[in-house]
Amino acid sequence: MAETLLVTSTTKQEKYIDLIPQLKSLLENETDLIANLANTAAALRQTFGFFWVGFYVVKQNQLILAPFQGDIACTRIPFHKGVCGACYTQAKTIIVPDVEKFEGHIACSSLSKSEIVVPIIKNNEVVAVLDVDSDELDDFSEIDKKYLEEIVNILTLSF
Ligand code: SME
Repeated sequence: MAETLLVTSTTKQEKYIDLIPQLKSLLENETDLIANLANTAAALRQTFGFFWVGFYVVKQNQLILAPFQGDIACTRIPFHKGVCGACYTQAKTIIVPDVEKFEGHIACSSLSKSEIVVPIIKNNEVVAVLDVDSDELDDFSEIDKKYLEEIVNILTLSF
């Protein structure tokens, strides 16, 4: 595809449905991991205007900051810390409607109010997580979970 996205829908679900085939063709034509993580973060930010969207990759026995869109963020997260750590250890998507109520949440920005973290699983191991933050409370639902899981599934091929 050309390096432009065409997403004209208005609801979140329709936006995901518009975005996913375009993103799929962009990612399937490139094998480089960093390029694909970078374009995925950009496409999600461009489509939904998320406050922060990016990846933490498993390296050196911890989660290390990888391509993202948004303000600068913490660079290293131990496996047992924060929402990202919980996502890693439980190997499942975690939705946090109010980050202040999640014990151990790591506040990279005081403006972040709710969050969803999705594991990227390859050969039964978590190899990275996708973290999306909102500056609004309760901004993520089962819709985000379903489609973000679909998106990270495509990314598994790049790892
Ligand atoms: N809030 C995350 C840390 C990453 S930043 O939000 C970008 C957490 O608690 O794991």
